[in-house]
Amino acid sequence: MDEKTILIATNDEPFGEYLYHQLSDPGWTISRASVLSDLLRKVREGDVDVLLLDSNNIEGIPCYDLIALLKKSNSRLPIIALSEDSSLETSKRVRHEGIFFLAMKPVDPEEIRTAVGDALKMIRQQEQRRNRKMAKIIELRPAAEFDLSPVKEICKEHEGARGDLLIVLQKIQSIFGYVPKPTIEIVSQSLGVSTSEIFGVLTFYNRFHLSPRGKHTVRICRGTACHFKGASSIIDSAKSHLALKPGKETTNDNLFSMEEVACLGACGIAPVMTVDEETFGHLTPALAMEAIARYQAAEEVAAAEAVQEKKAA
Ligand code: FES
Repeated sequence: MDEKTILIATNDEPFGEYLYHQLSDPGWTISRASVLSDLLRKVREGDVDVLLLDSNNIEGIPCYDLIALLKKSNSRLPIIALSEDSSLETSKRVRHEGIFFLAMKPVDPEEIRTAVGDALKMIRQQEQRRNRKMAKIIELRPAAEFDLSPVKEICKEHEGARGDLLIVLQKIQSIFGYVPKPTIEIVSQSLGVSTSEIFGVLTFYNRFHLSPRGKHTVRICRGTACHFKGASSIIDSAKSHLALKPGKETTNDNLFSMEEVACLGACGIAPVMTVDEETFGHLTPALAMEAIARYQAAEEVAAAEAVQEKKAA
């Protein structure tokens, strides 16, 4: 988590090469993308901390036309736009799209380095704020409610191995179905990683959960094909239908957990959602809510039957 990745997106090979060398820094991994699918995948999968976006075309698509889509995939991604066009209109347009910094070409490497440094500083501040917030949101269950001995065993195996953090968290999640808060302190002391760093990892990777999972898992795809066919309105409707909000992925009755995923492998029937093992395609917000409502109705019937059985016993 300490090393940050700077992605240079340009189809101008010599320019990309020049930036690559100018930006080399021990704390930064510099990566490059000259193909659209590569750029979108890296941004969507969170492999980028700061994006340098050249103003030229990538596969015939003007880069600035991609800003909204890139922001949709990762709204917090700082984008540094590199432009030859110093017109007020371009400046207004890219700023309106929410870019972090606009640098004029030919670029001044020092200016770019400073802008990248500022963007990383902003990210660190956001991470610290988010981690503090998450620590408050996550349900605080007393340690006594958990049998922590298997966690201690796991931590003993990896004692002092900071690099094993992901493996250790994965093992803990396989025991509880999520990573309970009381285990974080144990991991921190054993591996020598600060608790805020652990919260950072847990909130960065989608595969980790910080609260118990619901009985049913709703996965809604926000990949490129689904995005272009209205995935975001389905996600918004499902969140509001299930009364979920940032930091709260599971309904109060513990029946549903919702996840946004990169691709469900069924792009041909986009937009797509799954509920447990069932796949729903060609969705609209109304059809998605109807599918979820069917599961809710089935749960209500099951609960009513259980009450009846209890009375009859
Ligand atoms: S992009 Fe949604 S299923 Fe592939």
